[in-house]
Amino acid sequence: MTHPFRFGIAGCGVIAPTHAAAIQQIAGAELLAATDVIPERMQALAEKFHIPRTFTGLQEMLACPELDAIAVCTPSGLHGEIAVQALQAGKHVVVEKPMEVTLEACDKMIAAAESTGKTLTVISQHRFDMASRIAKQAVEMGKLGRLVLAEASVLWYRTQSYYDSGDWRGTWQLDGGGALMNQGVHTVDLLQWLAGPVLSISASTRTAAHERIEVEDVATAALTFDGGAVGTLTATTAAYPGFAVRIGLYGTEGSLILEGDRLKEMRLKNGETFTGEEAAAHALSVARGGSASVREEAEKTGAASDPGALWGDSHRAQLQNFIEAAQTGAPLLIDGRAARRPVEIILGVYHSARSGKTIYLAG
Ligand SMILES: NC(=O)c1ccc[n+]([C@@H]2O[C@H](COP(=O)([O-])OP(=O)(O)OC[C@H]3O[C@@H](n4cnc5c(N)ncnc54)[C@H](O)[C@@H]3O)[C@@H](O)[C@H]2O)c1
Repeated sequence: MTHPFRFGIAGCGVIAPTHAAAIQQIAGAELLAATDVIPERMQALAEKFHIPRTFTGLQEMLACPELDAIAVCTPSGLHGEIAVQALQAGKHVVVEKPMEVTLEACDKMIAAAESTGKTLTVISQHRFDMASRIAKQAVEMGKLGRLVLAEASVLWYRTQSYYDSGDWRGTWQLDGGGALMNQGVHTVDLLQWLAGPVLSISASTRTAAHERIEVEDVATAALTFDGGAVGTLTATTAAYPGFAVRIGLYGTEGSLILEGDRLKEMRLKNGETFTGEEAAAHALSVARGGSASVREEAEKTGAASDPGALWGDSHRAQLQNFIEAAQTGAPLLIDGRAARRPVEIILGVYHSARSGKTIYLAG
């Protein structure tokens, strides 16, 4: 009998319970260990999820031979250092978003994964949402024709007390940025995944509505894409009370709008029109593919009548893909190179805003 795929979590703060719960829902996976520099946080997570082993230091946890993988849930600017150490200790690694806050750190992580042969993924859970997968399939099938315009907006609200809740929040060194690098990175990733590589960026950013933060709480950028489309990207944590994330893709044959992780509508010139995921998923055969198991499992457990269960739980879907890739060599949906791209775009936005110049990426 093969032993379970055993995880240790590094960093037991806000996002750690999402990993713990997801790991414990995956058949064949086990949450064995946790570590945090603040012992009370580690103990609280261990008690809540019945984690058998706790370690007061990362090195001690990495020396645990039973561990197959480490989930890095620390502040963003520590992801690289911890991931590289874990990979070099022979562990597979899943890192929370963003991959890191500099391209140099991302490159070290990619190099460590390649030299050790271990699997490295970075969480971008919304790629696993059914609506995102429908959009990707529609673009790949040419349903929208040639894309001419893509727009993305993350109009969220974060209180001052959110930024004050951790001394790393809102800092360049550990948060790496504000509304775009922390909150917006998911949407930047989806935008470039759906609309293609970004070629140029012309941006403005401000720290407009919060105090005691170094980073931007408002950002706008005009983009051009490799395929010829132009686009806009807007992110803020100052839009009270906060609105659903929106991505619009407009092509020569039709339009598709994602709103709040759902397919708001897809309207094609050939007469096909979809609102919501169910009919569109069937029409485009999106149920199969990288994370088909989410849907299959939901159906098996009778969760098909519960849209939350059927379409949700994207962390679990991504962790499942990560485990399959590590164990069997199955295709990894988001590897280090893929995860570096949104970081490169966001750093390009900051560079453009600071310099007042258009930044050109390699594409
Ligand atoms: N995927 C998502 O939707 C999502 C949501 C929230 C946060 N995140 C990401 O998760 C990461 C953590 O965010 P958070 O909100 O949980 O932060 P947090 O501050 O609540 O938790 C981070 C934890 O890491 C611990 N830590 C710091 N240095 C450490 C070290 N060297 N070794 C071990 N533990 C250490 C801290 O003590 C803290 O308990 C960030 O990169 C953030 O961007 C992702």
